[in-house]
Amino acid sequence: MKHLLSAGDLSLDEANSILDLADQMQQVQHREVKKLPVLRGRTIVNVFFEDSTRTRTSFEIAGKWLSADTINVSAKGSSVSKGESLRDTMLTLDSMGVDAFVIRHSSSGAAHQVANWVKASVVNAGDGQHEHPTQALLDAMAIRQHFRKLGRDSWAGLRVGIVGDLLHSRVVRSNVLLLRTLGCEVVLVAPPTLLPTGVETWGVEVTSDLDQVIENLDIAMMLRVQRERMSGGFFPTEREYADGFGLTLERLHRLKPQAAICHPGPMNRGMEISSDAADAANSLVLNQVAAGVAVRMSVLYHVLGGSTEGIPL
Ligand code: NCD
Repeated sequence: MKHLLSAGDLSLDEANSILDLADQMQQVQHREVKKLPVLRGRTIVNVFFEDSTRTRTSFEIAGKWLSADTINVSAKGSSVSKGESLRDTMLTLDSMGVDAFVIRHSSSGAAHQVANWVKASVVNAGDGQHEHPTQALLDAMAIRQHFRKLGRDSWAGLRVGIVGDLLHSRVVRSNVLLLRTLGCEVVLVAPPTLLPTGVETWGVEVTSDLDQVIENLDIAMMLRVQRERMSGGFFPTEREYADGFGLTLERLHRLKPQAAICHPGPMNRGMEISSDAADAANSLVLNQVAAGVAVRMSVLYHVLGGSTEGIPL
């Protein structure tokens, strides 16, 4: 696997291989010395043209724990702010002998473009409103661990509700692609104004009535209302949004007792998710963050074909 651009590029075997290795990689997180020689001598450049806390930091930690040299480039402070094009910037960096780029950009399709231009491997860390494949993988890892602890080892029959601002989300598209490959049922829940165009062709159930589906969910994946991407009025007020689509305390009580709550972060507490739900015992929010480092270690290993030396079995 040379690049990871879309969750839809992953076969079931590839997805399982990434998730299985990520479970092994996670053991490093609990060690005093968090270093494996797997990517020694390799250079990874994180190129972030959009804001990020979790994704950028966890890719950087992942590269460092695998002994790669990791460098961060952000649009602010680079020649991009002087008007250099994405192509020129990437070709410049590529000429320095980089092995992999991790790229986040506000344009849908940016990572695919870059992969056509450069010699290095490219990992898509979020392209506009299009895709965010490592987010879907880390969600799957956290969900799988939750249900394995409960003695449930199969994706079949698990029902995932993805709820919120689906129109502006790249997380939803990658999750639908991956969760369908893994074999779960997916139901999308959003106000009609926040459903992506063409969603009826995605092959999943779609509704605007959260209350009608909440009791049958095994996973409630709450997505952020992306105010920075909104130009008009997509819903009347924040209060009405929370009443209709938020994971309130009342809805939390209606979830199945073993259901898991996910949110990729950053959360708007009180809007798409109440603090009661975000901090509940069955909330996987911080497990998702922890899984993020392990999944990104595994993805970097898969695209760069590292050595298996020192990987805990
Ligand atoms: C997501 C993103 O940036 O697409 N966050 C993340 O990567 N942790 C979701 C979001 O911003 O709401």
